[in-house]
Amino acid sequence: MKVAYVTADDTVSRHDDERETALAAWLGAGIEGAPVNWRDPRADWSEFDAVVVRSAWDYIERRDEFVAWAHRVERVTRLFNPAAVLEWNTDKTYLRALGVPTVPTFWPEPGAGLPEWDEYVVKPAVSAGARDTTRTADRDAAAAHVARLLDEGRTVMVQPYLPSVELEGELSLLYFGGRFSHAVRRHPMLSGVEATAENRATLRDPDDDQFALAERVLAAVPPDLLYARVDLVRMPDGEPVLMEVELTEPYLFLRDELAAPDLFAEALAEALKAG
Ligand SMILES: Nc1ncnc2c1ncn2[C@@H]1O[C@H](COP(=O)(O)OP(=O)(O)O)[C@@H](O)[C@H]1O
Ligand SMILES: [Mg+2]
Repeated sequence: MKVAYVTADDTVSRHDDERETALAAWLGAGIEGAPVNWRDPRADWSEFDAVVVRSAWDYIERRDEFVAWAHRVERVTRLFNPAAVLEWNTDKTYLRALGVPTVPTFWPEPGAGLPEWDEYVVKPAVSAGARDTTRTADRDAAAAHVARLLDEGRTVMVQPYLPSVELEGELSLLYFGGRFSHAVRRHPMLSGVEATAENRATLRDPDDDQFALAERVLAAVPPDLLYARVDLVRMPDGEPVLMEVELTEPYLFLRDELAAPDLFAEALAEALKAG
């Protein structure tokens, strides 16, 4: 079996430090993985038994091109996750209709005033890695960032800053082929403190209420996913809520849990067998 491990160009994908880990595990499951830049014009996707989106992290600036690429690939081979899932998941407006508790979000229209909150997070609905995302206690500054993003024709999300990301932390639960693999506590991205190799992620057992919410999230998203990452935070009263469910190109924290790479590879092997 030959499978494309989808990357971006090297300036972006050199930050993918779990590629070799994944490819080694795939090989152990009889799958020959080849890194390919999704924008490589010479790539012949029909050569592969499947195409797995991984460090395609530059899609943010060209989402339409990425979604069109995904649908094109799917006409000639199997794509993970499926194109319709990628299309749906790359715009966080999906959070509005998921039917699970999420981080409270105000969706501003041009000219709308902002709610009174202690501290704001303003982010575009199409983003990753906290790109174009700001945190501020100044309502005017938040409104100015909202106006700037709206001017660019983007959908904007405004949320209260949740201090729990700096205390308990954001919890990411990883699933392969629908089965739970592991979970990590993540370093807060808007804390002003850069993550180090040591504190970027710490393996952690989810609490029962976090497991329960993650299962609800998975029940609410499309089935047959090769990989899924459910990112949870707690509200000030302790209630777990969804920050996002990453079905597009999540970093999988494969190097943080010994068994994870093999679970990923097994899920891929099973998906290939299912044809
Ligand atoms: N409302 C919030 N309160 C506290 N931290 C936040 C909030 N929203 C985002 N963050 C921080 O910013 C990071 C990126 O935000 P997220 O919504 O996950 O978008 P993306 O990962 O797609 O850029 C989160 O992982 C978290 O560290
Ligand atoms: Mg995120």
